[in-house]
Amino acid sequence: MSRRELIKNGIEEISEYVPGKSIDEIALSYGLNPDAIIKLGSNENPLGPSPEAVDALERHRAHSQLSVYPSADAGELVKALSEYTEFPESNLVASGPGMDGLMDNLMRLVISKGDEVIIPTPTFSYYEIAARANGASPVFVKRGNDFNVGAESILEAESSRTKMIFICSPNNPSGNLIDERELRSIAESAKGLVFVDEAYAEFAYRNMSDLVTEYDNLVVGRTFSKAFGLAGMRIGYGIMPQWLKSEYMRVSTPFNLSRPAITSGIAALSDTRHLKQSVELARNGRKYLKDNIPFKVYDSQSNFVLVDVAPQKAQEICERLLEEGIIVRDCTSFRDAGDSLIRVTVGTHIQNKRVVEAFKNLYLG
Ligand SMILES: Cc1ncc(COP(=O)(O)O)c(C=O)c1O
Repeated sequence: MSRRELIKNGIEEISEYVPGKSIDEIALSYGLNPDAIIKLGSNENPLGPSPEAVDALERHRAHSQLSVYPSADAGELVKALSEYTEFPESNLVASGPGMDGLMDNLMRLVISKGDEVIIPTPTFSYYEIAARANGASPVFVKRGNDFNVGAESILEAESSRTKMIFICSPNNPSGNLIDERELRSIAESAKGLVFVDEAYAEFAYRNMSDLVTEYDNLVVGRTFSKAFGLAGMRIGYGIMPQWLKSEYMRVSTPFNLSRPAITSGIAALSDTRHLKQSVELARNGRKYLKDNIPFKVYDSQSNFVLVDVAPQKAQEICERLLEEGIIVRDCTSFRDAGDSLIRVTVGTHIQNKRVVEAFKNLYLG
């Protein structure tokens, strides 16, 4: 038996997750000064982490207890999340690494080999990876005009083997929200769990968490990686019906959040100033980018905008931007995204101005 045969069937179908490019990587490849590079390819927070989270790490000396396991369910953080979300603790789980960990645990819970999950495309690529890794076959449903998700097309794609339906809202990379009526229709009729990924909820005018109390098959996923500026801490959480939390806790990896993650997460939740500034920066910045980038820019409810550079190719434009030290995300690797879409994270105003100037220089119209 070759060593390769040890790997379970289906893994060969998975393409490794493609992360946004890093500053060091680009500085090295293009001979640029790292300080002159702006990283707008991973939807991180341009204001950095919540200062209260950073202070808390130092003040509480989270590091001094590193030899002792944290609480298995990050209960202190769940308590703080209960205040923040106004959901009882019985509806909340804290997850690591990030929201990706939440999705993985949910799939470990519901997927048996040969089951299906529905993924409206183009969207966040980890759904497909996690689904395949857990033995499910992804069923892709292409989003409609302006990347909308229609209940009819999702429900048509459901089979007796469908266990999960992934709805990203605001969607990465398009930035639009799912229409509430469509989501309700999906939740009402779906046999599988409806997972609403709200990684970017804080930047939107509306979120869908209320629906968790109405539909016993609906789960909302959230993260500290975006509005709270804690991508490096890898903290996520889920809002789910009580019956599901009890099942979830049976399979959840114990101690999946570290002590520093719990400490910084609690502090970030109380840092309303940083949160407000982050949200305002994203909202003003996305409007500025939409109004000033000369290509087609989609409306966004998130901290990024999607730019269509057709008839030019995203890959070529991204390459030209990289030469100028601007890292954005070429969406060509996103399934069903075509080859002319670029996702740009909203930066500080100075960064946004640089991005606009660079796009203007590349516009051939
Ligand atoms: C839509 C979406 N969901 C989930 C994640 C991952 O979140 P986390 O950093 O909490 O794992 C991302 C990260 O970019 C994302 O864009």
